[in-house]
Amino acid sequence: MARPDLTFSQTTAQTFFNFARKWLTISSLATVPVTFLVNAPFGRFTPSGDSIFLVDGIKSWILMELVSPIMFTYCFFKSPLSYYRPALPAPISPQAILAACFLIHYANRAIISPLRTPRRSKSHIIVPMSAVGFNLLNGSMMGSYLSSPFARIFLTPDVTFARTSFWVGLLLWAVGFAGNIIHDEILLDIRRKAKVGKGKGKSKTEEDDGKKAKNGEKPSQERPKGEYYGIPQGWLYDYISYPNYFCEWVEWFGFALAASPLPFELPAVITSLPSLLVNPIDFVLALGPVLPAALGGLWQLLLFVLSPAFLQWIVNGINSPTYLWGQTLTPPHIFFMAEVATMFPRAWNGHKWYKTTFKESYPKDRKVVIPWIL
Ligand SMILES: NC(=O)c1ccc[n+]([C@@H]2O[C@H](COP(=O)([O-])OP(=O)(O)OC[C@H]3O[C@@H](n4cnc5c(N)ncnc54)[C@H](OP(=O)(O)O)[C@@H]3O)[C@@H](O)[C@H]2O)c1
Repeated sequence: MARPDLTFSQTTAQTFFNFARKWLTISSLATVPVTFLVNAPFGRFTPSGDSIFLVDGIKSWILMELVSPIMFTYCFFKSPLSYYRPALPAPISPQAILAACFLIHYANRAIISPLRTPRRSKSHIIVPMSAVGFNLLNGSMMGSYLSSPFARIFLTPDVTFARTSFWVGLLLWAVGFAGNIIHDEILLDIRRKAKVGKGKGKSKTEEDDGKKAKNGEKPSQERPKGEYYGIPQGWLYDYISYPNYFCEWVEWFGFALAASPLPFELPAVITSLPSLLVNPIDFVLALGPVLPAALGGLWQLLLFVLSPAFLQWIVNGINSPTYLWGQTLTPPHIFFMAEVATMFPRAWNGHKWYKTTFKESYPKDRKVVIPWIL
């Protein structure tokens, strides 16, 4: 039966919710190998030359990103997964705090950051079109989840405010959000200085190129489609090429930790880590017996991934009905995973682009996107 304030029934909303959970996960994972091979055509990978399919980078970014907070707000206020429209959560409640986190992120992503961007490469129309599709599903899925009966129970104020994972998650969200802005700002600053001209400030590349020109060497920087790219420096740029991506992942991992139970059960040794760390001897004693089992488990997992049974497992997953699919996988974790799946191949190829473009000038020990590791 349709609720009077909705034009669809709760059952329809539940079906759509499960559809979004299943297909956002599968499609994000399926694009990983494709986007390693073919770069999404925006930013430094925009196709060269003129085409009617190339649209303004800043305007299209604003339009495609606005879809997410609009859908989120609509679903958060309507609570389509509830049989009866619930009262709105109190302003200082876990649900309201998490909704504010989501909207603060998108106020920056969709409006503040693009309006502060001096210039952005054109984008192929396919990019905003697919981003609108993603944001339609993701924004509604996240708003529906946070206002759902499940989230209302999981995020009951007294219990949640006493939960360590809620506060650790919020802290990670805040650190990731600040880090994302700081590192984006370093890039925008390179663009701004390049736009203002040589007098007011030079990017690192301009300085390097200046030195090279004096030595009679060819400048190393490229200005594809007229946009200026320099070698970013400072903060996490000293360790990785894409700290803005890394911080965005920290942000959404923190959000997921605060907003939802983990999709799998952690081994007891990890859940008891805080108490074990107080006494390192206890920790070693606890780790000893589980380590061989953990390594054995990893080996079994690797064998499974390489076996035909893995393919069958994927096919079964794709064929399973949406309401049964990944029942413990909630939208905040799907969003985090989809971000990593979309952004990791781009960071990988972007890192290669920096190395080919700037050659020896590019810092040799800079990793791709995870400091000291990858
Ligand atoms: N890409 C994704 O799939 C995705 C998904 C979710 C969230 N985000 C977030 O959205 C934000 C923007 O993403 P993005 O993929 O556009 O990030 P990006 O490639 O790092 O570019 C960010 C901005 O800086 C400019 N820029 C990049 N490298 C530069 C350099 N070396 N010198 C001067 N300017 C440079 C870009 O201009 P050009 O456009 O002209 O290259 C763009 O305006 C990031 O905070 C990211 O975390 C991205």
